[in-house]
Amino acid sequence: MKKLSALYDRNLSEEIVIVRVDLNINNKTLKEKKANLRVTSIIPTIQFLTKRGAKVVLVSHRGRPEAINTDVKELTLKPFALLIGKLLKKPVQFIPLDAKNERIISEKDGEKIKKAPKGSVFLLENMRFLAGEDKNETSTIKPLAELGTFYVNDAFAFSHRKTASMVAITKLLPSCAGLLLESELLHLDRAMHNHEHPLVVILGGAKMTDKMGLIKGFIGKADYFLAGGGVANTFMAADGLPIGDSIYEKHMISTAKKIMKSNKVIVPFDVVVSERRIVDNGVGTTDEWIEIIKSAKTIIWNGPLGVIEDKRFAKGSIAIAKAIAKSKAFSVVGGGETSLAFAGIPLKKNTFLSTGGGAMLEYLSGIKLPGITALRINEKKNEKRKTK
Ligand code: 3PG
Repeated sequence: MKKLSALYDRNLSEEIVIVRVDLNINNKTLKEKKANLRVTSIIPTIQFLTKRGAKVVLVSHRGRPEAINTDVKELTLKPFALLIGKLLKKPVQFIPLDAKNERIISEKDGEKIKKAPKGSVFLLENMRFLAGEDKNETSTIKPLAELGTFYVNDAFAFSHRKTASMVAITKLLPSCAGLLLESELLHLDRAMHNHEHPLVVILGGAKMTDKMGLIKGFIGKADYFLAGGGVANTFMAADGLPIGDSIYEKHMISTAKKIMKSNKVIVPFDVVVSERRIVDNGVGTTDEWIEIIKSAKTIIWNGPLGVIEDKRFAKGSIAIAKAIAKSKAFSVVGGGETSLAFAGIPLKKNTFLSTGGGAMLEYLSGIKLPGITALRINEKKNEKRKTK
């Protein structure tokens, strides 16, 4: 897979670079300044390109416009132009879709980009407003590919999706991994293949089903699984422990029992309860987990340990985040909500916050992500072309 970082000594002033990013952030989170990891993380790639003279065209999706009860207007990427511009300290021009012709970009806007001064940055409208994006249709992305000179995937968090701006575009343009994607893979690969023990995997969030790939991938490698949130409820129900009206997955009970036979699963022994539901880990459990974290050499965490969006029930997750930030362990943390627990906590280099939720889980499960496979195929194709 080609990497953007390899172009550090190149003058890119003749290039128009199509950069795929993941700005899939809802309006509520967008207003809470702290949660913009996905925005801040793409800045180094944009600056790398513009400092070398390239023009940058940012492409992303946002939400699922097809979903029932969706207010499509709420899913525009327009507010991000200002936000990214503030971080870059230069204007970012927003380019609407060519709605009349159902094209990703109008010829007029294409010309505007071509004539713009070097180092200019543009942001296109939500790719998912075009039906061809999710269908991975080459014809949808072609007008953009014809405008660009190369393509950068800096959307690790979307690399598990086979869409036109992630996969089809790599068939049309020379392609490489951006700085964020490179960094994500470096950290996740280390956690998967080059970890030190004790290795602690912290599982939270609503469903155990979502974490099954991670559990299977690490059952032979991890020393402990610390289960919180809805995941813990299913383990506790399987163990015959009382969970009141808490959410759990009945169909996963027998699987949970099998996993518990590994003797690696630790569930909370005290919890915070609200309206007969478990909403957070209790103080005793938090203290016990902090001790485990202190002795860990590697930590992987995905999914909050309680109802983190409610401040009253975020204490368990925040205490664990603080312990991880303090610890000397190499840690990778993923899922937008999980990262919320780290808001305002200064981080050292050994703690990595991944921008990926589902993508992180799939990658750690050993699944090949289509967006990354596409970059590998693109490199091979270009090498073949060169040797001919
Ligand atoms: C994410 O937020 O995890 C990615 O952007 C994927 O979004 P999707 O699940 O709507 O495809």
